Amino acid sequence: MVGATLGEARADALQGKRLYLDAARLAGTPDSCVDCHGGLPGGAFGIGAAANAPDLIMSAIDSVPDMTPFRDRLGAQDCVDLAAYIGDPLVPSPAVALVAPDGRVLDHIDLGEVELGSQARVVFRLANPGQLPLALTGASTITGRDAAELELSSTCALPSVIAPGGGCDFTLDFRPAGGAGPRLARFAVDHDWVRSPAALAVLGTAVPAAANDGDADATDEAGDSDGIAGARDGACDGGAGGSPVGALLVLARRRRRRPQRGAAARGPTGPGRMAAPTCGR
Ligand code: HEC
Repeated sequence: MVGATLGEARADALQGKRLYLDAARLAGTPDSCVDCHGGLPGGAFGIGAAANAPDLIMSAIDSVPDMTPFRDRLGAQDCVDLAAYIGDPLVPSPAVALVAPDGRVLDHIDLGEVELGSQARVVFRLANPGQLPLALTGASTITGRDAAELELSSTCALPSVIAPGGGCDFTLDFRPAGGAGPRLARFAVDHDWVRSPAALAVLGTAVPAAANDGDADATDEAGDSDGIAGARDGACDGGAGGSPVGALLVLARRRRRRPQRGAAARGPTGPGRMAAPTCGR
């Protein structure tokens, strides 16, 4: 039946897309096809000639020096799948993107400057901009050097299937402890589409807590907004317009109240906070 044949062809093309984008992981080669040929439709080195022509892929693997790592790692069915994908590059598939709440794609999370003893929070989303459901296959994790100061206070529930066009949210809290300085960790979540896990570097900077200057309310207010701007500043290193995470910072910090210790702690830390640079808008 035509319908069944079409369905099989598309199943082959979907598997071929998986291989094309992720052969390095699936076949254990140094690169995937996409790393040399680019995305489809419109790949480089005349790859379009292999549309529905698995033999051409096999002969390329045999004759193109760059492609020798695929020898013995891709079988005849793999070449059929790849050729089906090259012939049907718009085959529906899942897709994965980590995005800000406004939809901008993130390549890292920057929590900016956060005072020791206070907290910053970002919300971001695992989105499925594809046409087929995406499944999460493992718990999301925060790992790396400063993971102890970061906590996922809400995550996508497991088992989780994200419908096409859908997404689920993560909330990440940063509570710097210990000394001032830069912080680094990694967020990752396993899924069943290509190049899993989806991961992001998580950056932040712990700064000394500002003095609680009880005798000047106006200054204190200015200090507060400065602190929030400072946290956004940290996300602006990407350049014009600020980074996506600036918009994500829904809770800049919780100011620690220290009524008994104001005078002693005030001096050295206050002026430093006032010098925080401002973020270009
Ligand atoms: C490390 C880089 C690299 C990778 C990875 C790679 N290719 Fe190639 N491929 C090339 C280069 C370079 C050529 C062109 C060689 C030439 O024209 O002499 C080529 C040629 C081809 C051709 C021949 C096109 C023609 O007109 O004859 C096909 C088909 C092809 N590649 C398919 C694939 C597929 C499918 C994959 C993934 C399984 C893949 N390639 C992975 C570098 C790569």
